[in-house]
Amino acid sequence: MINGKTITELAEARKSIRTYSSKSIPSELMKELENKIAGSSNPFSIPVSFFILSKDQYDLRSPVLKGETYYIAGKVKKEPYAEEAYGYAMEELVLFLQANDLGTVWLGGTFGREAFEKAIGLEADAFMPCVTPFGYPAPKMSLRETLMRKGVKADTRLPADQLFFENDFSSPLSPEHGTEAAFEAVRLAPSAVNKQPWRIVRQGSSYHFYLVRSLKETEPDMQKTDMGIALCHFVLALEETGIKTEVIIKDPGISCPENTEYRFTVCTQTA
Ligand SMILES: Cc1cc2nc3c(=O)[nH]c(=O)nc-3n(C[C@H](O)[C@H](O)[C@H](O)COP(=O)(O)O)c2cc1C
Repeated sequence: MINGKTITELAEARKSIRTYSSKSIPSELMKELENKIAGSSNPFSIPVSFFILSKDQYDLRSPVLKGETYYIAGKVKKEPYAEEAYGYAMEELVLFLQANDLGTVWLGGTFGREAFEKAIGLEADAFMPCVTPFGYPAPKMSLRETLMRKGVKADTRLPADQLFFENDFSSPLSPEHGTEAAFEAVRLAPSAVNKQPWRIVRQGSSYHFYLVRSLKETEPDMQKTDMGIALCHFVLALEETGIKTEVIIKDPGISCPENTEYRFTVCTQTA
């Protein structure tokens, strides 16, 4: 729960915001965001550093945005699961902002990377997978934003029976009582080009996460970042119903469809 809203409610309410109003953000809320950043963690125990940047101070630009004044950008050392760690940690900030009525949009491609990397002092052994602006949404979307949303069918998601499975990839999962909301929170998660690359196979109290690769693998990789975002929704939604989680990396060896890769497992225990 954040500000009395469940993770699934926040996942339902969130959508990418690319057009911002000029309403200023209260200083107490900025302070809360700074505290949230200072306390940021992720299940991979990979340190991620975040920075709040003012657009004008660093001359930051994105051709898809209108009216934005602040951004969050972050960096993480290049290592296995760095993108998942980044995705998890930044999505926690996105949900916090959503709970406070502030809009965001994950940006991995359509922004001037160089100015951001310079502003955060990016080292050669680290990368900055994505950034997000944040601010109050404008009452009306720009025409460009409306067209972009149509282009990636941003308001649609795959049905649960194509995403979540029982024991192996051959039978769809019927989530047991208490976990439905967590699966729905994953289904509604944002992903690069809305490709929804996450699949989950449940085996008993273990939930194996797989990546269906549909975008070219890059460094940093957008679809691994998507996996971290989905994990964030899943873990936070389970934990708020009293289910304890631990994330491990141990391939169960389930036979996978084409272009599908095991990434990690969420082990659960009812408290
Ligand atoms: C890792 C990642 C990278 C993204 N990169 C961009 C981007 O470069 N430009 C952009 O306009 N949207 C980007 N998006 C936003 C997605 O297009 C958006 O989340 C998706 O279409 C679903 O729409 P929704 O967020 O409104 O639910 C990105 C999203 C994610 C998760």
